[in-house]
Amino acid sequence: MATQTAFDIDLDIIEPKTFKEKPKDEELKFGQVFTDRMLLRKYENGAWDKGTIKPFENFSLSPATAVFHYGQEIFEGLKAFRQTKTGNVVIFRPDENAKRLQASARRMVIPEITEEYFLQSLYRLIGMEQDWVPRKRGTALYIRPTMIATEPALGVHPSSDYYYYVILAPSGPYFKEGFSPTKIMVEDTYTRAAHGGTGGAKAGGNYGGSMLAGKKAIDQGYSQVLWLDSKERKYIEEVGAMNIAFVLDDVIYTPPLTGTILPGITRKSVIQLSADLGMTLKEEKLSIETVAESLKSGNMTEMFGIGTAASIAPVGELKYKDEIFIINNGEIGPTTQKLYNQLTGIQYGEIEDVHGWIHTVVEK
Ligand code: PLP
Ligand code: COI
Repeated sequence: MATQTAFDIDLDIIEPKTFKEKPKDEELKFGQVFTDRMLLRKYENGAWDKGTIKPFENFSLSPATAVFHYGQEIFEGLKAFRQTKTGNVVIFRPDENAKRLQASARRMVIPEITEEYFLQSLYRLIGMEQDWVPRKRGTALYIRPTMIATEPALGVHPSSDYYYYVILAPSGPYFKEGFSPTKIMVEDTYTRAAHGGTGGAKAGGNYGGSMLAGKKAIDQGYSQVLWLDSKERKYIEEVGAMNIAFVLDDVIYTPPLTGTILPGITRKSVIQLSADLGMTLKEEKLSIETVAESLKSGNMTEMFGIGTAASIAPVGELKYKDEIFIINNGEIGPTTQKLYNQLTGIQYGEIEDVHGWIHTVVEK
């Protein structure tokens, strides 16, 4: 665990004139309210400026701005937690988000920012907004770093100008159910990503293209879509906003990173934590037929989503074509529970952080 105190980067600071009322922790939903300050850094004439921490406010952009037309946009998602015993404010594995943002930037031809700038500007911003980090277990300050193409011109080519900005949203659970089983529907018509496409990058367009399938699922009472591979509609990929894992014959399975799914940081953490807890986890392709058959036979006992916003999200019902499978009687299974306890225990400072995942921003 490293405590962040020194700031080697120079940022401009413009303080807000007014401050908002903070919502009550019990009333927090996901990503609905935003803090008083944001970070904004601009790329013009081939260089990034030093960046400004400034009041959270609207942008004024030309209707011709590139991002509005061609979607040259990437983002990240990570969380700051208020540790239960100390009240310290920590961020979970931000170095991983910095690296993934760089990888997404390369894929989408957006100029990268350094890991040092990403981290230090974040520590600074979170330090200033520390009172916005909620206290209730299960809540966090959701951090949304974003990069957009801002050249005001209609030609299809990489933009000359960009914004990098970070906004903060005190948030409760991503699913309205909280940490209780959610319902997922297998999508067998539309696909999310093809080999050679942008599925492995955290690009806004991946989500834009998923809305129709997402709506189909919601219209039928399901919270998200389980995607299949685009070539054969056979192998499990991931869920709308999280990676996925299954427990089959006491082994945890999660699809391998083949370029079409997002390399989740929670997924990477779960792979480590399952080893720490003496569980067997395999990164292996799993077909939807295998999932359906083993749910029918009872050999598949658990299914859970894995992501920053979703944390560890038990799945209690899966719909595939006309079949509906109830998983573990619609209850949270033991593997899901243990991994949830371990992950959130580390995030909230109740379990020792032996892997150096926790970056302490404010020490109380
Ligand atoms: N897959 C998708 C499509 C996502 O949107 C997310 C969320 O960020 C994840 C997986 C999980 O990634 P992470 O654990 O880094 O949040
Ligand atoms: C996250 O888990 O951070 C995500 O980005 C998921 C979703 C809200 C897009």
